[in-house]
Amino acid sequence: NLVPMADILQDAHKKTYAVGGFNINNMEFLQGIMMGAEELNSPVILQASEGAIRYIGMDYVIKMVEAATDKTDIPVALHLDHGSDFESVMKCIRAGFSSVMIDASKKPFEENIALTKKVVEAAHNVGVSVEAELGTIGGTEDDHTVDEKDAMYTDPDQAKEFIEATGVDALAIAIGTAHGVYKGDPELDFGRLETIKKLIDMPVVLHGASGVSAADLEKAVSLGVNKVNVNTDFQQSFTARVKEIFAEKPELYDPRKYCGPGRDAIAEKVKEKIRILGSNGQA
Ligand code: G3H
Ligand code: 13P
Ligand code: ZN
Ligand code: NA
Repeated sequence: NLVPMADILQDAHKKTYAVGGFNINNMEFLQGIMMGAEELNSPVILQASEGAIRYIGMDYVIKMVEAATDKTDIPVALHLDHGSDFESVMKCIRAGFSSVMIDASKKPFEENIALTKKVVEAAHNVGVSVEAELGTIGGTEDDHTVDEKDAMYTDPDQAKEFIEATGVDALAIAIGTAHGVYKGDPELDFGRLETIKKLIDMPVVLHGASGVSAADLEKAVSLGVNKVNVNTDFQQSFTARVKEIFAEKPELYDPRKYCGPGRDAIAEKVKEKIRILGSNGQA
């Protein structure tokens, strides 16, 4: 049951909950995420980065996700995470993704608009959804001054201009989150989120959500975040379980005996995130 991401996110936007944009790194991630989402009857957005597609192989991504979605009733979108250029996005659309992200956030505003608009035209033509990004979701914010934050974070008026000019289905905004592991505690600019959401009135995406507290995630969702991207937390859950197992039984050699528990650890973490986002029971 592969659906366009826009269908999933429009419902979340209307009802004020968020759906996980959960990264697949390999088969165990895909299965662990599906196990968690199915158990809680939640829609889910499976996302693959360009690095993950290189690692897994495009044909395996498509076939594995097909296997996962053929026998499920929950709505699932297959989404390209941080697509870097037009060709990369088109490759995924041709291969069968139901959604793509074009991340031109490092380019000047007008160039971001132009490239995003081009992607939206191509994608919408074939029923594929588009996420774009405005602002800088980067390293930890601890070292940055207020002025620098103003320059990095998403400008609300620009966000409105951007979505009107491009017609994107979802907008990723920068409000203080960062990819990977935080050095200190992240400090989110909730006021900015509130202002942006009121101005654009459409699905908003939060990247770098690993390491953000449950309370902050809940608050972000209540203020209008509809897609929450998580990769690092699942990588850490998987790896921590594998390390535990090897600490206990260093003589192990059968990968099923540690990848299986790693997969279960991902499923547990997925359920925890889904409950925080409020997408349980929304499938
Ligand atoms: O936002 C980035 C995701 O966490 C994917 O990272 O390029 O290491 O697969 P990756
Ligand atoms: P984390 O590294 O915080 O899990 O962020 C993942 C992400 O934003 C993928 O696009
Ligand atoms: Zn991201
Ligand atoms: Na993070």
